Amino acid sequence: MNRIGRLRDRLGRIAYGGDYNPEQWPEPVWEEDLRLMKEAGVDLVSVGIFSWATVEPEPGTYTFGTLDRVLDLLADGGVAACLATMTASPPPWLTARHPEILPTGADGARMWPGGRQHYCPSSPVYREHAVRLAERIADRYAGHPALALWHVGNEYGNVAPCHCDVSADAFRHWLRERYDSVDALGDAWSTTFWSQRYSSFDEVLPPRSPAPFANPAHAVDYARFSSDELLACYLLEKEVLRRVTPDVPVTTNFPPSLRPADLWTWAPHLDVVAYDAYPDPHDPAADAKVAFSYDVMRSLRGGQPWLLMEQAPSAVNWRARNAPKPAGAMRLWSWQAVAHGADAVMFFQWRQSRGGAEKFHSAMVPHGGPTGRVFEEVRELGRELAAQPALAGARAPRADVAMVLDWPSWWALEQDAHPSADVRFLDAAWAHHGPLYDASVACDVVGPDADLSPYRLVVVPNLYLVAEEAARNLERYVEGGGTLVMSFFSGIVDPHDRVHLGGYPGPFRRMLGLRVEEFWPLPESGRIGLSQGTGTVWSEEVILEGAEAVEHFTTGDLAGRPAVTRHRYGRGTAWYLATRPDPVTMRGLVDRVREGAGVRPVLPGLPGGVQARARVTGDGPCYIVLNHRATPVTVHLPAPMRGLLDGADAADTVHLPPRGVALLRSAD
Ligand code: GLA
Repeated sequence: MNRIGRLRDRLGRIAYGGDYNPEQWPEPVWEEDLRLMKEAGVDLVSVGIFSWATVEPEPGTYTFGTLDRVLDLLADGGVAACLATMTASPPPWLTARHPEILPTGADGARMWPGGRQHYCPSSPVYREHAVRLAERIADRYAGHPALALWHVGNEYGNVAPCHCDVSADAFRHWLRERYDSVDALGDAWSTTFWSQRYSSFDEVLPPRSPAPFANPAHAVDYARFSSDELLACYLLEKEVLRRVTPDVPVTTNFPPSLRPADLWTWAPHLDVVAYDAYPDPHDPAADAKVAFSYDVMRSLRGGQPWLLMEQAPSAVNWRARNAPKPAGAMRLWSWQAVAHGADAVMFFQWRQSRGGAEKFHSAMVPHGGPTGRVFEEVRELGRELAAQPALAGARAPRADVAMVLDWPSWWALEQDAHPSADVRFLDAAWAHHGPLYDASVACDVVGPDADLSPYRLVVVPNLYLVAEEAARNLERYVEGGGTLVMSFFSGIVDPHDRVHLGGYPGPFRRMLGLRVEEFWPLPESGRIGLSQGTGTVWSEEVILEGAEAVEHFTTGDLAGRPAVTRHRYGRGTAWYLATRPDPVTMRGLVDRVREGAGVRPVLPGLPGGVQARARVTGDGPCYIVLNHRATPVTVHLPAPMRGLLDGADAADTVHLPPRGVALLRSAD
């Protein structure tokens, strides 16, 4: 059995728990913690994420007493540990002795200790100390009965890329490996422009706040390099853990923003994907947005269940205004993660801190103690999840729709000096994913060079940067009979941010049957008329070269010109959106395209605001139905189903209270 199979066997259910920071509390509190964990059905906690200064109070001196007692207590209490390597936050003695490990911003200003995650990932000094600590921890706890999973670092990339001199050296080394000669670098970075020609790699710096504007190819390579440097830190620690504890799975928790690291390059190095999600209760689209992230997480390792490593039991502390989760929202959003393939529901954090920057961040056990609504909901959810062991390890069926996501394209898209500052990747992704989500259509996420043949529909919200081969991959998919939807400002540049010449969107022109003459971005919050609805963000002058116009612009200088086109190409169809239709119009369009491609919702006829997803257990599909509305709703089912949460008899309708959840299985 592989490492993850063993972990699943050990936990035997959807894991439940959170970050546990007992070093912030006197020991008598720990006893209460264990008692309350039992009461709440907690079976997995992340320990020691920020314990470096506790465990190594002086260089090379290790005081494991606290952690020994905590882990023994957990083992005795039947709670497994996701044990951190503790390298996320260097202790003061390290930065005092080696200030050169502190990260430097793009403006050249050093970040100082006093917060956390203040290290330069390229620093050999940081790496040496981190690996040494990881090794000591692995040696100490190999074979400890509490140890179930390794948690390396914490939220890599949560701090902006470092631009210090050490990073500059490492970047030059990275560039030498990538480009054989400085002339090749010059060609890739278009350095004949603005007198940027380098005569030696030694002259290259990180893109430190240049006089406007930065060379975009340089900036995108720096984003690639920064992702690789963080990955190198992770891999150095992972290597040690593998050597000492070959049977213990290793992971790290990806930060909510998704953006800093190219997760396609990371995912193969994790035994299981882990993610931290903090949807904003003030945002009416919070559930739709986080659903996209969950689809990314499930897709990173080909549909393997992933771990929701952190979420807030209620409010966070780091937004300008921090809304609590209203009654039922924490449970609903937790089940949403499970519906999208999560095998763990965990929180930041177990007990609310008394001091420090996160004292107003909610926790499973709040300042007021285990008496109020938050703890009650925590306890209830723990009980509920424990009663559904069959879900653990159950995969979601492969979706019929795939959405294309590519990190270098994302980074390149968001450089300066583009036609519009309003074209942001996540906005595009959400605008295309939202209508699928609203219709309860499952969606996988893939890279542009993935095998697309299993999918009936491929959606490309924006692929600004694309290599010829990847573009051919999408084209072949359509030729072979696939349906593809692509939005504007795709296929514009090559991997070095150089324009694909010969007319936009270069490598997609043949497939789309059109050419774009000129971009006409809209003014801030501007709208443009369409034959049905309105367009937002963007418009452009499309010249048809085989495609037919399905929608036209109806206002402004582009009135009468194509806004949405369709092109039959090979055995398939390629749609193109030359604007971003408003959400209602977008929903209509996406429904039309996906129905044409034969893509059906997970359950038919669900009312608005109600989502369903499936996971396939040994007994067949289990449907998780989520009412995201604050009002009750009755859902009509295609066939009689039994309720697994409430033990309801088979029926062909199910009543969901406000923010209610049902777990359903076919009656036969
Ligand atoms: C991140 C970190 C945690 C904690 C939470 C608070 O996800 O990983 O340590 O700071 O944010 O929301």
